[in-house]
Amino acid sequence: MTLNLDQTLAWTKSLAAHTPDAAAELAMLNDLQGNILKGHGRGHTINFFLAFDKAQHPAARRFISELGADVTTALDQLTGAQVFKATGKSASPFMTLLLTADGYRALGIEDVMPPGQAFADGMQNRQLNDPPQAQWDPGLSGDIHALLIIGASSAQDQSALQAEFTQRFAASDGAVRLLTVELGKSICNRDKNGIEHFGYVDGRSQPLALQEDVDLEARDGGIDQWDPAIPLSQLLVKCPGGQLDVSCGSYFVFRKLEQNVQGFKRREIELAEILPGAGERAGASVVGRFENGTPVSASATEIPVAKPGPAGVPNNFNFSDDAAGLKCPFAGHIRKTNPRTDTGDSKDHLMARRGIPYGDRTDDPNDGILANKPTGGLGLLFMAYQRDLENQFEFTQRFWVDNKDFRNPGTGIDPILGQPPGAGPQRYPKVYGVSLSEPFDFSGFVTMRGGAYFFAPSVSFFKRLGAR
Ligand code: HEM
Repeated sequence: MTLNLDQTLAWTKSLAAHTPDAAAELAMLNDLQGNILKGHGRGHTINFFLAFDKAQHPAARRFISELGADVTTALDQLTGAQVFKATGKSASPFMTLLLTADGYRALGIEDVMPPGQAFADGMQNRQLNDPPQAQWDPGLSGDIHALLIIGASSAQDQSALQAEFTQRFAASDGAVRLLTVELGKSICNRDKNGIEHFGYVDGRSQPLALQEDVDLEARDGGIDQWDPAIPLSQLLVKCPGGQLDVSCGSYFVFRKLEQNVQGFKRREIELAEILPGAGERAGASVVGRFENGTPVSASATEIPVAKPGPAGVPNNFNFSDDAAGLKCPFAGHIRKTNPRTDTGDSKDHLMARRGIPYGDRTDDPNDGILANKPTGGLGLLFMAYQRDLENQFEFTQRFWVDNKDFRNPGTGIDPILGQPPGAGPQRYPKVYGVSLSEPFDFSGFVTMRGGAYFFAPSVSFFKRLGAR
């Protein structure tokens, strides 16, 4: 039986077929953690950041092995979602467990540590133009060994699960210490689509490794202008220490990104002032999409989203009729982070993004009153799976987002993410499709508050850990 990672996976066909290859695919899904091939979809998350006591590493290994036995497998997640669709029965909590390189070291299991320089170094030791570590949030600054993510369907379940697991860590007698907790909470716009705190639809464009998801895109929006299909190998690698030939895992990036909503919204207005008649298009040029998700390259004026759900937000587009960046600027966030058909290898650098907003809003996100908008204390818990940290997350951040000469000299840094702030002003479409503005600095409204690189090992890895 062989597992071919160089293709998308039609998992419902694997369930129905009786071939050895289908059996290998099911065995892989049954040993793979969920959330990698498809988002877990829960609206609330508890993100527990943990550290192990090196002096008690056998006890820590046992604890992590037991915790790992409860993670949600990819197969359970996929079948559970079908049951939920059919019955409407509330989904049970989702759970995934991830380790840093320091975590592998603290557990005394370097022999099965996944390879790679970036992973071994840890995020805090990489050249990412990040603020100094001393300014990162306590608990998120470099001494993390593991991350346990629990996904819950309601705020009540979230609180109950937080209390339950906090107690469980306390009962480990110091073998496993809780460093900090980050709570995620998804937010929606009036069309019932998920948004981030600046107010824009987020999470829409994803590389898709499951053929069923690609087929849905083809049916609902088309895939002739942008085909989101990727092979499994773009997200999965072999899991060192897994018990099966088909045991797979994935590298994972976590970054807490604080958003200054008031500053961003004010700057959108200032940008609109130098782009006569632009109105909402000013902010859309910064992101590459209007707030409701309409790509700015497809429209100079916002078109209402036809139906709620991803199918209502177009994703079947590229920038081929905008070669000079006069509709969607080269610096626009979505063009920076996925130039689509502009470059031959855009797809190779894409990650499966699984982020969720954090922080509570006291204002009405739709009231448009600047003074009410928060300046901090909320943002995005950015999370993404991939097979190669250097070639996916770091490539995107360093060579696209922070590169002021991306594609053309003077493009400027990504106005949402570019670091350090002010490192390269951008030019925005002044007359849509015709001319560009003078350089205008749009930066500094997202601040990196801490993060780490993790690996999501296979389920059988955790089982074996207890026996070591
Ligand atoms: C607070 C921080 C961030 C905000 C507010 C933000 C916002 C957005 C929005 C509104 C979209 C458009 C919706 C969509 O296509 O899914 C988007 C897409 C995207 N973002 Fe971000 N993002 C943030 C951080 C990041 C980071 C850290 C990365 C990677 C380094 C990233 C990479 C991407 C990618 C790859 C896409 C999809 C582009 C496409 O395929 O068209 N984002 N983001």
